[in-house]
Amino acid sequence: MSKRILLLHGPNLNLLGIREPEKYGTTTLEQINQLCDSRARWHKAELRAEQSNHEGALIDVLHVARNWADGVVFNPGAYTHTSIALRDAISAIQIPVVEVHLSNVHAREEFRHKSLLAPVCIGQISGFGWRSYLLGIDALLGFLGALHEPG
Ligand code: DQA
Repeated sequence: MSKRILLLHGPNLNLLGIREPEKYGTTTLEQINQLCDSRARWHKAELRAEQSNHEGALIDVLHVARNWADGVVFNPGAYTHTSIALRDAISAIQIPVVEVHLSNVHAREEFRHKSLLAPVCIGQISGFGWRSYLLGIDALLGFLGALHEPG
């Protein structure tokens, strides 16, 4: 059966394309979702995308994902650096989560160097712009043993 992926975007990522393009690029969230959908299909996986600016709503989406998704590719935005509640949600759902960031958080302000979520994720990808998401999908499907590798 094909793997099912939740692609989850946190706060302010709905503004991608116009938000600080020098840091986050000019690709919109809709375009990123489409690129990720194509990537998932290429791997014969299914993808559903969600975005919220609200911590509790993100937690609700993660809880529901527990019942249908094989794994999550998650850009938690600024909640990466602040949210014990999201960390606990990731621990609770017991499906693999890959943390992704457009920018290289380790090369930015010191408060962005610390991720409260990374220790409960299977890994973190940071700094490759919209390609971070594609790398995240590949990493998740690789972890799940479901990479489509022709030849
Ligand atoms: C971000 C990095 C975070 O520090 C920031 O708060 C964001 C975007 C990224 O994708 O580079 O909102 O998650």
